[in-house]
Amino acid sequence: MSIFIFDKSHSLGRVRAVDTRRVDVQVNSDEDLRKARVGQLVALALPGVIEEWLIGIIDKVIKTPVLDNDRGELNTEQDYEAEEADTFMLSRESVLNTVRLTLVGTVGLCSEKSEPQFSRSLIQVPEIDGECYILRDAQLQSFMNLLSSEGKTEHSLEIGKYTIDESATAYLDGNKLFQRHASLLGSTGSGKSSAVASILEQAAKLPSSNLIVFDLHGEYRALSYARHLRVPGPEELGKSDDSLLFLPYWLLNAEELQAMFIDRSEFSAHNQVMAFQDAVIVEKKKTLESLDKREVLNAFTLDSPIPFSIEDVICELRHLNEEMVPGKTKDKQGPFHGKFSRLLVRINSKISDKRYGFLFQAPDSKNQYDSMAQIMQRIMDYSQANAQIKVIDFSEVPSDILPIIIGLVARLLYQVQFWTDRDKRKPMALICDEAHLYLPKKDGKNPAEQRAIENFEKIAKEGRKYGVALLVVSQRPSDVSTTILSQCNNVIALRLTNGDDQATVKKLMPESLEGLMDTLPILDIGEALVVGDAVLLPSRMRISPPSEKPLSATIDFWDEWSIPPVAPDIAKAVENMRRQNRR
Ligand SMILES: Nc1ncnc2c1ncn2[C@@H]1O[C@H](COP(=O)(O)OP(=O)(O)OP(=O)(O)O)[C@@H](O)[C@H]1O
Ligand SMILES: [Mg+2]
Repeated sequence: MSIFIFDKSHSLGRVRAVDTRRVDVQVNSDEDLRKARVGQLVALALPGVIEEWLIGIIDKVIKTPVLDNDRGELNTEQDYEAEEADTFMLSRESVLNTVRLTLVGTVGLCSEKSEPQFSRSLIQVPEIDGECYILRDAQLQSFMNLLSSEGKTEHSLEIGKYTIDESATAYLDGNKLFQRHASLLGSTGSGKSSAVASILEQAAKLPSSNLIVFDLHGEYRALSYARHLRVPGPEELGKSDDSLLFLPYWLLNAEELQAMFIDRSEFSAHNQVMAFQDAVIVEKKKTLESLDKREVLNAFTLDSPIPFSIEDVICELRHLNEEMVPGKTKDKQGPFHGKFSRLLVRINSKISDKRYGFLFQAPDSKNQYDSMAQIMQRIMDYSQANAQIKVIDFSEVPSDILPIIIGLVARLLYQVQFWTDRDKRKPMALICDEAHLYLPKKDGKNPAEQRAIENFEKIAKEGRKYGVALLVVSQRPSDVSTTILSQCNNVIALRLTNGDDQATVKKLMPESLEGLMDTLPILDIGEALVVGDAVLLPSRMRISPPSEKPLSATIDFWDEWSIPPVAPDIAKAVENMRRQNRR
């Protein structure tokens, strides 16, 4: 059985230069050059082997004018005379047609089954003057079918169709996509949230998948196959609803608490930290003693998530702030007198602010020793019906503490996974939508963002070993932490119009694919370049829209303005704004 049968009409030219993965092909004629398009696939014959072909992607198509005066050195006088006589010939132009390719793999007959097989390895390099053929029509189809059937394994995830052959289904390797993190990048409205929903929809069909979506705008709240959790807003504080996710303040570690309360620019910041930490540790100890948790008492630290009373901490700080100590003749001000006034105001204003209610005003039932296990159970459980996909809606979290809160959830998930017995760990993927909001680049971050980034960077670096994967989704890749992005082994790049963002994405991709990368700004909505080990071939794909769409549809302005008017209820919106609730 032959893999490809080419005739003259497929012929593109001959190999002229080879530089590991890069190959230049000299094209026979202008007519043949017209067959070549950037992104198209080609097959190159291998020296001395039949039925084995190298596959390449066209990266550049170049037509260079050359003057026909290249006659070598002119040595003798006659040469000069002859040259002068030919002067009019010098300006005669001819062209050099070149196609630059990047080699991406080999197709050969598998020895046992004598069936064609594609592999990403390049065992051989092409020979100079070797023939190069365009893959199209039947040849392209048989190659794409080969890719589809090889990509379709028991761990494959159907993502859409290949742009170059819309009849061929494109698969991602579901193992490899999550093994070493992935990123999904594209300008606003390019189809990222839809692509996330497509992936979720497929993952939801697996009996014990475990994906946790950080939803910042409530876009995914209508998905029927997911478990929905919501960080409660001011209106919902009193309610005890299973879908409300209270995150009591005592879950925060020392640094997160400090980032929340302490203003580093204050003169007494250092003293504030010391006094605050001492008070917290005393209170945590009290809790453990009252519950007689001896083992924990021996091991606990300031960072341990143990419930404590923030009111008692405030009492202690107030006491220090007002303390008078005996002096030589009369009482004098204590060492911290007046130093904590601002800190106390800050703590008090935070704990009484309803927007922070999910931290400080959780019902008593959420402030028990066992509450943390229950909270984590809600987020990490995958065994019940519709619990494979967990959507956490953070839309009610005030933006100043959003990074701390998302970082807190990510850290707790990672730590619980870390402390789970190795054989009981279920791998989980964290889908970080709008990552630029809480995973910004290093410079100029405030302490809150710093904490979030450190938590995620740890997952990016070490999550693989414990089965915690990140899918970083962002419309501003140039604003996202480089450490995190560069750990992503697979990149799904949708349309990107901004130059900085394109440059960032290009840096994440192999150098040899420049031509393909240049198509980033001209991709259609829902069309993506996928690069990484989850695909057999770096390819341009059209991602299938999900059947249940996220609530993020682009608004058609002109159409909306064309329908008869209905009086707007501005008063209600204003009141919603005051209540901080749309419902
Ligand atoms: N694969 C697709 N095919 C066709 N239309 C799509 C596809 N994906 C998304 N769209 C449309 O594009 C619009 C925007 O999609 P989406 O909300 O996924 O964008 P986004 O990249 O997440 O934007 P943002 O960065 O603002 O969150 C929607 O109206 C959606 O219907
Ligand atoms: Mg989106």
